Amino acid sequence: MTRTLVIIPTYNERDSLPRQLDAVLDAAPEVEVLVVDDGSPDGTGDWAQERAGRDPRVHVLRRTAKEGLGAAYLAGFAWGLDRGYELLCEMDADGSHRAQDLPALLARAGDADLVIGSRWVAGGEVVNWPRHRRVLSTGANTYVRLALGIAVRDATAGFRVYRAAALRGLGLSEVESQGYCFQVDMVWRILRAGGTVVEVPITFVERAAGQSKMSGAIIREALVKVTLWGIAHRVRQAASLLRRRA
Ligand code: GDD
Ligand code: MN
Repeated sequence: MTRTLVIIPTYNERDSLPRQLDAVLDAAPEVEVLVVDDGSPDGTGDWAQERAGRDPRVHVLRRTAKEGLGAAYLAGFAWGLDRGYELLCEMDADGSHRAQDLPALLARAGDADLVIGSRWVAGGEVVNWPRHRRVLSTGANTYVRLALGIAVRDATAGFRVYRAAALRGLGLSEVESQGYCFQVDMVWRILRAGGTVVEVPITFVERAAGQSKMSGAIIREALVKVTLWGIAHRVRQAASLLRRRA
């Protein structure tokens, strides 16, 4: 059996995490889960620790401060790579990523270094998102495709399966993205390393409890970083073209 770790980052998800954890372990009984909590004031970390104490499939990494989704996932990846898991998954705590879709993503892990649960391919769907979130996500993904010249439809998606072997070669210690542009950063690194990405349609359901951590700072970081990556890419392309001519 393939050793699989589902990493769930949490910040104030006390009302969502218990149900999501049960749903994941029900839908995919062979996986283990690592909750990466950033010192949630609402007690999410304490709850997760207590749960881990009575369930060997559940692990917790407790961090002291809210340092962003990127830092939480990097800590989770390091934890999982150290312990020899072969597949590392990303999943939100709030129920937006349905546990019932996880087996379909895991089933494709043999075909690619990164499997993305995608809202924006045929068969993908978003339920209960206000219009401004739809526009933000489709707009961001169009910009990413144009700026980086890639074909991925949902590069900001947070429901994923990575092959551990592919992550090992990426130089994760250099990743600086803090917010949700971490997701784009990882797609871009996998593709530039010559890795493969497949997208599997999912239904994304807006959370029923708690609050989104999306913010203006997260949007600004993504816009600046994606633009800089795109410019650096074009400069590299032009330089190699000139070298070939010379
Ligand atoms: N540990 C930690 N630290 N967890 C965090 C942090 C943080 O700083 N910020 C967010 N999270 C956790 C949340 O607790 C949740 O489990 C998950 O990351 C997603 O956060 P949400 O705030 O629910 O994100 P969203 O629903 O607005 O955004 C969704 O769409 C984004 C854009 O497509 C998510 O699927 C994101 O992953 C995705 O990038
Ligand atoms: Mn959410």
